[in-house]
Amino acid sequence: MRNKLWTAVGVAVLMVLVFVAGWKMGQSPGAGAAPKAASVPIDARAIFVPESGQIDALRRGVPVDQEGHPPAIARVENADLKRVRAYPMQPPTIPHSIDGYQVDRNSNRCLLCHARANAATFQAPPVSVTHYMDRDDQFLATISPRRYFCNQCHVVQTDAPVLVTSQFRDIDSVLAQPATQAAAAPATARPATPAPAQPAAKE
Ligand code: HEC
Ligand code: HEC
Repeated sequence: MRNKLWTAVGVAVLMVLVFVAGWKMGQSPGAGAAPKAASVPIDARAIFVPESGQIDALRRGVPVDQEGHPPAIARVENADLKRVRAYPMQPPTIPHSIDGYQVDRNSNRCLLCHARANAATFQAPPVSVTHYMDRDDQFLATISPRRYFCNQCHVVQTDAPVLVTSQFRDIDSVLAQPATQAAAAPATARPATPAPAQPAAKE
């Protein structure tokens, strides 16, 4: 009986010692100051590295032997303002926040407002006919399975800076370029005379 008691006390003292040792060891290396000093802010934009001829969108200029801390996550814009589409068949960006909107096998929150039947109630633009077409262009009574997961194509609007500047021009700005330029470029493609005549006829 006595022996058992002493063994228990011995084990308890040993455990306390191991605990204190572990605690002290965990505290020792400068309380996490080391990684903080090495952290370099990462530029929000991708940078062009001339030597390699490539765009560095991952480390954005931070050398590989240093640790970078990324910019804060972009804020979702919830202003109900539609953004212009860059090209005709672009899925429009979502002008409202979608936090907590469940889209899974059993329910689709987006369709509560955007289904053709509910759009008037919620004053939401109904999904276009393409969303009811299957891959053989047949119209279905309900949303097509391939358009069911809205976030596959539609993204929320954020205040994130553009990573890479784009030189894309939409067709309106291409058509609006000065007539002299337009005539000079496609001289072989078609005669220059009908080109100015068309817009004039429209007006
Ligand atoms: C509570 C109703 C409601 C829900 C739920 C909802 N929306 Fe909307 N949505 C609207 C309204 C209203 C507009 C019109 C613009 C505005 O007022 O924000 C809109 C606009 C849009 C537009 C812009 C259309 C255009 O022509 O530019 C897209 C895209 C869109 N929503 C996608 C979604 C997606 C994807 C979901 C689900 C993740 C969703 N919405 C959930 C009400 C809703
Ligand atoms: C496969 C990609 C894809 C999916 C998935 C998808 N959309 Fe779209 N959506 C588009 C494209 C592309 C357009 C613009 C051209 C068009 O109307 O087809 C569009 C247009 C829209 C519009 C604007 C309609 C108009 O007349 O201006 C709304 C609203 C919309 N989608 C909502 C939704 C909702 C809600 C879902 C989920 C139920 C969804 N979309 C799923 C690609 C998609």
